[in-house]
This record gives sequence, C-alpha cells and structure tokens, in this order.
Amino acid sequence: MNTAVITGGGSGLGKELAVLLSKKGYHVHLLGRTEQNLKNTALEIKSNGGEATFHSLDLLSYETIQKVAKEVSDRFKIELLVNNAGVGYFGSFTESTDQEMEEMFSTNVFGPIRLTKELLPSLRKHKKSAVLNIISTAGLRGKKHESLYVASKFAFRGWGESLQKEFEGTPPRFINAFMGGMNTPFWDKSDHVGNPEKLRSPSEIAEIIINQYETENEIVIESKK
Ligand SMILES: NC(=O)c1ccc[n+]([C@@H]2O[C@H](COP(=O)([O-])OP(=O)(O)OC[C@H]3O[C@@H](n4cnc5c(N)ncnc54)[C@H](OP(=O)(O)O)[C@@H]3O)[C@@H](O)[C@H]2O)c1
Repeated sequence: MNTAVITGGGSGLGKELAVLLSKKGYHVHLLGRTEQNLKNTALEIKSNGGEATFHSLDLLSYETIQKVAKEVSDRFKIELLVNNAGVGYFGSFTESTDQEMEEMFSTNVFGPIRLTKELLPSLRKHKKSAVLNIISTAGLRGKKHESLYVASKFAFRGWGESLQKEFEGTPPRFINAFMGGMNTPFWDKSDHVGNPEKLRSPSEIAEIIINQYETENEIVIESKK
C-alpha cells in the first residue's frame, strides 16, 4: 500500500484530500495540532474501508517535525507528501503584528520546507513520489489587506518552483496548487471574507486537485465569479 503524508489533515481541504487519497488506496498519515480533528478524519476514513494514522505535529517546532518525520519514514516508504497546513492573518499592513508575520512564515514556509527536507530521503526511494504544495491564488498575485499572507505564499511558491527545476527528471516531482477562497475553518476567526458560505467547498477543490496532480505540475483553480 502506498503512503501519503498530509499536514493539516484534520480539517478543511487537508481532510478532503485525505479522504480522496485513501479512496485511491493510500494509507494516509494525518498531521496537525488538534488531535480530536485528526482522530475524527482517521475514523471517517477507516469507516469507509481506508487506512489512516494520525500524528500530533506542530509545524512551529523543528524538533517535532524531525520526530514525526522519523516516526513515519522509519516504518513507511512515502510516495506522496501534501504540504497543506497553513494560517492566515488579514487586515491593513499598518495594523499587522510581528507575531502574525512570524507565525505565518513559520507555518506556511519554514515548516513545510523543513518537513519536506526531513522526508526527502524516503521520498527519493520511490520512483513516482511527489510533493504537492497547497499554496493559494495569494501565491500568484498581491491582494489588498493580505500583504503578509501573500508574502508567505509567494515565498512558498518560489521554493516549490525552484525544486521543480532542481529535481526535474528525478523523484520527487513537485506540484504547486493555487486555489481561490474555500469555505473552511480557515475563516472562523476572521471577518476578512464577508460570507465564506459563498466560497467553493473544500471537497470540490480537493476533487479537482486529485484529478490533476498525477499529470500536472501546476494546478490553478480560480474563485467562482
Ligand atoms: N480557505 C481558503 O479560502 C483558502 C484559499 C486558498 C488557500 N488556502 C490554503 O489552504 C490550506 C488549508 O487551509 P483550509 O482552508 O483547509 O483551512 P483549515 O481548515 O484552517 O486548515 C488549516 C490546517 O492547518 C493546520 N495547521 C495550522 N497551523 C499548524 C501548525 N502550526 N502545525 C501543524 N498544522 C497546522 C490546522 O490544524 P491544527 O490547527 O489542528 O494544527 C488545519 O488543519 C492552507 O495552506 C491555506 O493557506 C485556503
């Protein structure tokens, strides 16, 4: 059975990707901080006949990243890593805080880069391995009142695009996915988006990604007009 590792697999897009990947026959390893959410996703997958394991991981802690990466790669040959977890703080640049900037860059950029580096030796053993980076259309263009989030997503995109070139022809393959707004818990503590219910569902976005990631290196899913 092939193995997939998914950060932020307990909610939103990560959860939907995990469910679909398990249906494709992957044993999915769900990573995140809120154990109850990970557990619920794992239970859902298992009740559908799939295989799932969860691990507590805080992307802000390099030590935890190393520990979880070792735990998974010692026992499994990883075919797919989905760098999905992310946080966003929105509002005017003048009112933004240094702590928000630190947290966004640590979670959206440094965390996934560190995790990928730790899992690379395992990923490189599999001829068809891939790293799927969940970015955002915020990684394609600047947006008002999103400057620091956009900056983190541009950085993540730049890293992914560079590795697409550096690993061309050798595993893993790097895929960058850019999507518009989704109705997920991402907006629970923010009023940046007026009515999140108008946004696309994470299951719709997950389905598009799963249909494309095996053949495309770049997936762009714009918001509905
Ligand atoms: N929703 C949108 O409109 C939208 C649009 C484009 C792109 N995106 C991107 O899509 C990705 C998924 O977001 P979502 O919309 O599905 O929102 P979400 O449900 O809030 O998912 C974010 C996930 O990241 C995890 N996470 C956050 N901080 C973490 C940390 N320090 N360590 C480990 N895991 C952490 C969260 O789990 P815990 O809190 O339990 O750790 C959560 O499961 C993010 O990268 C986001 O930037 C979202």
